[in-house]
Amino acid sequence: MPEFKTVRGMRDFLPEEAEMMKYVEGKARKTAELYGYKEVMTPVVESYELLATKAGEEVRLRMFAFKDLGGRMVALRPEFTPSVARLVATALRNEPRPYRLFCLGSVYRYDEPQRGRYREFWQSDFELIGSSKPEADAEILMLTASLMEAACLKNFAFRVGHVGVLRGIMSQEKLEDKVQNTVMQLMDKKQYDDAFKVVEEAGGSEKCLVVLRELVELKGGDVSDIVGKMKKCVKDYEEAVAATDNLNEILKLVAESGGKIDMIADAGFARGLEYYTGMIFEVYIPDLNVALGGGGRYDKLVELFGGEPTPAVGVAHGLDRMMLGIQMQETSLGTEKRKRVMVIPIKEELVGEALKIAQMLRSAGVTAEVEVMGRKMSKALEDADRKRMDFAVMVGERELKEGAAVVRDLAKREQNTVKIEEITDKIKS
Ligand code: HAM
Repeated sequence: MPEFKTVRGMRDFLPEEAEMMKYVEGKARKTAELYGYKEVMTPVVESYELLATKAGEEVRLRMFAFKDLGGRMVALRPEFTPSVARLVATALRNEPRPYRLFCLGSVYRYDEPQRGRYREFWQSDFELIGSSKPEADAEILMLTASLMEAACLKNFAFRVGHVGVLRGIMSQEKLEDKVQNTVMQLMDKKQYDDAFKVVEEAGGSEKCLVVLRELVELKGGDVSDIVGKMKKCVKDYEEAVAATDNLNEILKLVAESGGKIDMIADAGFARGLEYYTGMIFEVYIPDLNVALGGGGRYDKLVELFGGEPTPAVGVAHGLDRMMLGIQMQETSLGTEKRKRVMVIPIKEELVGEALKIAQMLRSAGVTAEVEVMGRKMSKALEDADRKRMDFAVMVGERELKEGAAVVRDLAKREQNTVKIEEITDKIKS
């Protein structure tokens, strides 16, 4: 047999990494709870058409797509948003608005593997369905900041823009959706000259090219200044003016909420996914050139999937990248440490008693492992030391007769005979 390796772009999570992923997942779940988002679980495999419809070239071409044995064209989900929109258009159609939905799980994209870019990765996804108001957009930005803070990520900053500015200009210039999509894809990749060329070839006016050229230069941390300049720049394009006003309101609300969130407004900002209709954003930390999360407003997707016209805004956080950020910033996780105990029977006849004591400890929230290798006491204690356990409980005949066992503090190297019913307290104290 060959020596098997993981498939390119796929990773194993060994215990330490798995623990860190659980930690980040825990923070995402806690954030969902605090903001009132209800968790739903959707399938990993979805219809290709559902996932491809508004994904945009970038994601569409990178899907793990295949025909299942029934001949259906399916794909592994590259994100959660289409699944949530499908739910909102169908099973959750009659739920009162707003609905706040949360998903967490693995997603799949055939990206080129590199640091922070994998083919299987984990997202926590928050979708606020049913509101077109700027406070809904503000909430999505705020909860993302809350999650970054909860995960102890430092110096994160948001890059914020609005799809309505660029699309508003192109619509008034009568550029078709398809052309607009191509321009947005190129803008997303910062290939501005190529984007301008497409606009020009599709019949965009000289004036619109001047405006677009000016817009892509407009970015900075003084967001009200930038948004003010954006508005001036697009003054002849009605929809684009409305979009800048909307962006301004959202950013004002976030500022009023009191959180100190670093923001960079970026007028030429575009994202690969095609369903966005309004505010878009990504969150970054220094020294990691890939986004830790991204999202925005998508007001047309639910309708496109056969539901009522339903405004929506959401975000997905890349949990693997958050993990990477935590490692890079060398943040100590501050996870609550349970006490860990090794329960060792002195001889085989006492294994049942050892199992019973272990169960007693576990039901009190103490991690208990039982010696299952049939080793001598000294060897079993060595193993407990190697694993840095806190205590060993040694189950011997003599003590058992008195309803007791020997409890050894492995750090202090002290041991006492303790009544069985008092062992839990002794260990927890
Ligand atoms: P996205 O920007 O495509 O948005 O992905 C969200 C996050 O997933 C990224 O910011 C990044 O942290 C992580 N991510 C993306 N690709 C990879 C990869 N190859 N390896 C590791 N992490 C990755 C969405 O998925 C939208 N569904 C967000 C959304 C929700 N918009 C509205 N609602």
